[in-house]
Amino acid sequence: MSENAAPPVRIRADVLATPAYRQGATPTKPGFKLSSNENPFSPLPGVLEAIARRSEESNRYAAAAMPELRAGLAGEFGVSLDHVHLAAGSVAILYQLVHAAAGSGDEYLYAWPSFEAYPALGLASGASGVAVPLTAGAEHDLDAMAAAITDRTRVILLCTPNNPTGPAIRRAEFERFMARVPSDTLVVLDEAYREFVTDPEAVRGEDVLRDHPNVIVLRTFSKAYGLAALRIGYGVGHPAILSAAASVGIPLSVTGIAESAALASLTPEARTVHAERIAEIVRRRDALAAGLRELGLAVPEAQGNFVWIPEGGERGGIGDSQALAAAFAEAGTLVRPFAGHGVRISAGEAESLDEVLRVVRGFLAG
Ligand SMILES: Cc1ncc(COP(=O)(O)O)c(C=O)c1O
Repeated sequence: MSENAAPPVRIRADVLATPAYRQGATPTKPGFKLSSNENPFSPLPGVLEAIARRSEESNRYAAAAMPELRAGLAGEFGVSLDHVHLAAGSVAILYQLVHAAAGSGDEYLYAWPSFEAYPALGLASGASGVAVPLTAGAEHDLDAMAAAITDRTRVILLCTPNNPTGPAIRRAEFERFMARVPSDTLVVLDEAYREFVTDPEAVRGEDVLRDHPNVIVLRTFSKAYGLAALRIGYGVGHPAILSAAASVGIPLSVTGIAESAALASLTPEARTVHAERIAEIVRRRDALAAGLRELGLAVPEAQGNFVWIPEGGERGGIGDSQALAAAFAEAGTLVRPFAGHGVRISAGEAESLDEVLRVVRGFLAG
């Protein structure tokens, strides 16, 4: 049956008009998958054993409060456990926060291009998304975002570092922006790629929560911890905001297996290997960005585990992102094109670096 067929029951027109979230492509031939910002390393030492042990209890619901994990995460932010909320991926918390704060007639603001889930976050609650274009340097245009705040704005999403373009928001810019945001407006600092940030001036969620009770910081085990398939992320901030988020969340959606995997990822032994792997991924990211810049491309500052090639031939970009992605696919490598904007390439396996540069060089040579 075609997914475009009319449903046999009455469905909301605004829902029918909205395309479902589209995941990056899945591989069809052997090669590198650099399209979803995944971690090329398998889970940290001890994690697979923890998963195996916990899966023996799969006939039981997990205890939803998960205090040990929440306390561990809270400790990293210097807050108490009630400041931490878990969900099946940080994307789930994005939905919860927008639903909790923004209803019909309200607005939520985000930069664009950014995380592809943002435009549909308000669909079910009836809130309208307002997209504010990035600057020419592919950074958040915080002046334009501040100017776009209206008395209907309920949520502002800041993605730092920005997926897909790479730059992080700096602490000073963030503070200037926050001075223009009403204190009763929720600001979400989406730090899905926080562990890869090397810019010492980048804003860090743990540094700003105390001064800004209207900020919720989002983190995830999907990227730096390599647990994307297990679906576990967390929000940190004011307990009453997080409790509102939980009220609109789907109960019991964090599995016990995900909980055990996350806990096992935080042991001292796992943390040592984690730090080494992050350093390695950052090395690969920087090498990829440098290699692409040597080819004349205007790759913006890369602070996540990915690099961005902008469109715009005359300004150090490529002509057509779909055509570049097709050239990659032809060579067996998946990357993520954003039509009209550019191409995002994840820092993956060590051997993928030369392959990326080879394909791009060939593409540029026409
Ligand atoms: C900026 C950003 N936020 C949130 C997410 C969601 O991550 P997850 O739901 O796997 O925690 C992603 C995933 O790609 C992302 O890029």
